[in-house]
Amino acid sequence: MIAQLIETFSQTLSVEIAITTTLKLLHGSYALLVLDSNDPEKIYAAKYKSPLIVGQGTDGITVASDLMALIGYSTDYHALDDKTFLVARKEGIRLFDLNNESLDLHFKPIELDDQDTTKGEYAHYMMKEIHEQPSVLRRIVTNYYEKEKSLIKPEILESIKSSDRLYILAAGTSMHAGLIGKQLIEKMTSIPVEVHIASEFAYQKPLLSKNPMFILVTQSGETADLRACLVLINEHHYKSLTITNVPTSTLAREATYFLELYAGPEIAVASTKAYVAQVGVLAIIAHELSNKSIDLKKELSIAATSIEHFLESEDILTLVREYLTRRNCFFIGRGLDYHVSLEAALKLKEISYIQTEGFAAGELKHGTIALIEEGTPVIALISDPLINNNTRSNLKEVQARGAKTFRIVMESCKQEGDEVILENVHPLLTPLVMVVPTQLLAYYAALERSYDIDKPRNLAKSVTVE
Ligand code: AGP
Repeated sequence: MIAQLIETFSQTLSVEIAITTTLKLLHGSYALLVLDSNDPEKIYAAKYKSPLIVGQGTDGITVASDLMALIGYSTDYHALDDKTFLVARKEGIRLFDLNNESLDLHFKPIELDDQDTTKGEYAHYMMKEIHEQPSVLRRIVTNYYEKEKSLIKPEILESIKSSDRLYILAAGTSMHAGLIGKQLIEKMTSIPVEVHIASEFAYQKPLLSKNPMFILVTQSGETADLRACLVLINEHHYKSLTITNVPTSTLAREATYFLELYAGPEIAVASTKAYVAQVGVLAIIAHELSNKSIDLKKELSIAATSIEHFLESEDILTLVREYLTRRNCFFIGRGLDYHVSLEAALKLKEISYIQTEGFAAGELKHGTIALIEEGTPVIALISDPLINNNTRSNLKEVQARGAKTFRIVMESCKQEGDEVILENVHPLLTPLVMVVPTQLLAYYAALERSYDIDKPRNLAKSVTVE
């Protein structure tokens, strides 16, 4: 329809004016490239809400929806603003607003290289990214603690402290990281935190406190559901902080403040290292707001080492072959482990297509236990000695109904027969480590089924539609 409109208007107007006249009629989000068969040397590009980036290099001009796509083609990039429109030809680029007034382009160097975007020695990006997690945590420690100037500017901390309630908004894996963030902030400070699914918040805004502050957690920085929330937040002039892996992204640009995850490009659709980075950065924010009784820098380094030791010794494939043979699966846990269960379930279902649920272990008996039958896999996550026995007793309940169970535990909770035992870390940082075996379970379950691990069906890396 857009093409038809442009074609119709161009009967009487120049192509450029025909395009802008069409754009003014459009509602909703778009990222458009337009080619005119009468003048194939030009590319016209325009966007609203969806991302669009133009790159230039020695070989010409490239337009893409993601900075990573420009690697190898361009050396510099300009991220288009909403309701701007460009005309690119070999000799150069011109940028306009929708009234066809000329605008300035601001090119910046692309600081990613091929190494960031190749699989290296790994068969899949997901496996590479799982193995990068210890170094991601160490990079976060270096960048947040060892740089001369603190990345968390005093005004960010002041804005949070002067708010009466924090609202963490996110989707999918990032929302699961947000749930951990809530626990960390509430346990280290006295600031109450709510976590909301972005797509729900945008259209069912809850009753807000008098002086709210918003934290948007997003790997891509382009999630449309979250953008809808930010539009609302900005309309009310509330303060916002985006935590993202992509500093050039829309959500980084449009929030009051942003902080970077430093996870490096995450290419597999299933998010792994970005989750660990999100939990790490949320822990640092919580710590900065607290009385700093924990040596967080040291504790994050211990967590990185614990992940590394597990990755050196893991034998998850055997567990997958023995246990994950069914169409369904359950992860159970309590407290922080419950939130990790949600993430573990999402990871397993999105790449292995096994119908998986994450459950609060104690809630199982209130209905879901009816689904347990002979051979149903139930995986318990246990990291807190205080509730170790409670979760184990839930496990016994499902075992008695025929479930095939196994345990992923922290050393402090281990008992004879536990299948995966992880080196102890600070009790608030267990999600960083507990999640890793569950990522590998998902990976090997998908591998066993010969599925496309990095590009699971029906999913996209940046979800730019609502
Ligand atoms: C995670 O494995 C998923 N691909 C998905 O849930 C993702 O976390 C979600 O779409 C949010 O994306 P974002 O972090 O880029 O906002």
